[in-house]
Parts: sequence; structure tokens; C-alpha cells
Amino acid sequence: MDYVITGDGSKTLYNEQVGEHYHSKHGALQEAKHVFLKSGLQFSLIQEPRNTVSVLEIGFGTGLNFILTADYCVAQHIALDYCGIEAFPLDLSVIEQMEYNNFVAENVWDDFVSNYNMALKGEHKINQAVSLQIAHQKVLDFQIDKLFDVIYFDAFAAVHQPEMWSDETLAHVAKFLKPGGIFVTYAITGNLKRSMKALGFSIEKAPGAPGKREMLRAIKY
Ligand SMILES: C[S@@+](CC[C@H](N)C(=O)[O-])C[C@H]1O[C@@H](n2cnc3c(N)ncnc32)[C@H](O)[C@@H]1O
Repeated sequence: MDYVITGDGSKTLYNEQVGEHYHSKHGALQEAKHVFLKSGLQFSLIQEPRNTVSVLEIGFGTGLNFILTADYCVAQHIALDYCGIEAFPLDLSVIEQMEYNNFVAENVWDDFVSNYNMALKGEHKINQAVSLQIAHQKVLDFQIDKLFDVIYFDAFAAVHQPEMWSDETLAHVAKFLKPGGIFVTYAITGNLKRSMKALGFSIEKAPGAPGKREMLRAIKY
């Protein structure tokens, strides 16, 4: 798979079969930090300050959202329980080509790459504070017997993968969020807002990452 340089100098992958990049072309790093870290994780921790947090990501891909989240949690002394769902896991060599090590502490990066393949086999402690599981399956096949504080919904866009944004998929994913939990994604459409409201979420239009006016944040009641 080929990578391209995005607007902020960070790399992203191009998936030819799907016809889409893994991140915003305006800036992969900026998007990950804005949509998922700031508007999702940090928002949740501001609402309810605590020293443990759990995150479920739909579309683990290169792990950029994970390493930024782990880096933040390690620096803030917050224990992180992270589960990423990924139907088509990337080879570690592809992930290493992205050079995302430049964006996080060296130990966080080293813990990620040295434990990536173990995390694909099941929940695995990558250091004292962070546990990682990468569920190698399609989102609709995913089951787990716990609930999460935050959902990072990072599927390819609806024009390319409409089934990821269907009522069935959103309802399936929403089941794994705690009451009061936060669901964030980079996009916002009328259909998405209607689906999330019907699932019992309150909807917020948050400012989007560079290149997008708005994004969706939804809180489960
Ligand atoms: C927009 S990319 C995610 C980017 C990722 N968060 C990152 O930081 O690199 C979408 C991801 O969803 C994965 N995917 C596609 N179909 C899926 C499915 N049915 N279930 C789970 N993951 C899927 C793709 O393989 C891809 O890694």
C-alpha cells in the first residue's frame, strides 16, 4: 500500500481497493489529535475527571489514534484500556513506514511496535498503564463483555463503505458504550445524526478538523 504526505506533513496510507485515504489529506496528525484525542478522550476526561479510561476504536488501521491516546494517558498518569477493531490488520512493516514515532514519546512507540502482534491475538498489557487488544474481525462480528467510556468511530467514508454507517452497524457499536459515554467521528451527515438520535444519543456538532467545518460528537443517555 502506498503512502502520501498530508497537509501537516504527516503521512497517510491510500487504500486502492476502497479508493480512500486512511486519514484526512489536510493533515493526518491534526485530524487524529482534534477529532479523537481532543474532542473524544479529553472531552470525556473533562466531563468526569478520573485516572482510568477505556476506548473502543472502529478501524484501528495504522494505530495513529491509539499511540496518541496512549502517549497522552501515560503523560497524565491515566490507566488506558484500548480495544481497536480491524478487519484487515496492517503488517507492522507498513505501520513503521508511517514514521508516527515522531509524534509520541519513544517508550510509547517502542511498547506499541513490540507488542502489536501480541495485541492482535488478544488483550495484552503493553506497559504498566496501557492495555491493548486489536480484534481482528469485521465490526459486526465483534463481541465483548465490557462497556467503554469513549468510541472512536474511524471507518472509511460512507460514499465508499456505506455499510459501516448503517443503522445496523451503528446500533451494534453503540451497545458497547457506557451510559454517559462519548462517541466521536470525523464526519457529520443528516443520516448519521438521525441514526444516533434514534439510538438514544444526544447530538453535538463540534468544530471539525482542518478541511472539515463540523464533526459529530454524540453522548449516550
Ligand atoms: C479510515 S481507516 C482507519 C484509520 C485508522 N484509525 C488509523 O489511524 O490508521 C478505516 C479502517 O477500517 C478498516 N475496516 C474496513 N472495513 C471494516 C470492517 N467491516 N470492520 C472493521 N474494520 C474495517 C479498514 O481496514 C481501515 O483500517
